[in-house]
Amino acid sequence: MTQGNRPKIIVGNWKMYKTIPETVEFIQALIPLVPNPACKIYLAVPFTAIREASVAAEGSNIVIGAQNMSDASEGAFTGEIAAAMLKDAGAKFVILGHSERRKIFKETNDFINKKVKKAIEEGLQPLLCVGETKQERDTNQSQVILEQQMTQCLADLTAEEVKTVIIAYEPVWAIGSDLAASSELVEKEHQYLRQFFFQKWGQTSAEALEILYGGSVKVANAKQFLQLSDVDGLLIGGASLSVETFSKIINYQNLQLA
Ligand code: PGA
Repeated sequence: MTQGNRPKIIVGNWKMYKTIPETVEFIQALIPLVPNPACKIYLAVPFTAIREASVAAEGSNIVIGAQNMSDASEGAFTGEIAAAMLKDAGAKFVILGHSERRKIFKETNDFINKKVKKAIEEGLQPLLCVGETKQERDTNQSQVILEQQMTQCLADLTAEEVKTVIIAYEPVWAIGSDLAASSELVEKEHQYLRQFFFQKWGQTSAEALEILYGGSVKVANAKQFLQLSDVDGLLIGGASLSVETFSKIINYQNLQLA
């Protein structure tokens, strides 16, 4: 399947790091370092910093988003945040189904599906994470797991609805472990995910689909992944917390291949 004209997207996932002043300082420092990025820049900040991050990023290439949201529009759900509230604060996208949410907070594929549908309904771009554990890989179940996650998390979506969805392939064993997946493995699984889209929603959807790789992406390995034809970008945790490393990855065209 051809690459099409998909732009690369570099996404920072800050997880539970950074206060409001730290967020503003980061964004103000980042903007002059990435004047002509060859990619789209997305930053998923903590809920509390979305509003100020959006203001700080105004007029720049940086798109602000959230890391989770409720599957409900509103209601008696103490501690939850609705899509409309995220939008109101300035979020344009939302990470859904991250493996930390699946593992620590026991989120199931069906629950994530409800969130994906709600995000689309409310006009927030969903960034859906999928990926196998070490044990699933070791027992040759990776593609079965990926298929299950894709089938269930994207259940009932039409070709029109699925258009805005970004997929992040994040093998659980590669996250925060310094054990990034190999280029060969990433290319193979991304092709598998694109093929899934092709079978379910047709060629146009498959060719337009943006698939990011995530898991121990660093300055040293970013370019190697971004050069792969089925990798449309990166989802970056640890290395997105420093302006220095995040800006170097955004300016990946200047990086040497390791
Ligand atoms: P990492 O995290 O880059 O620190 O491995 C990636 C993620 O959890 O999205």
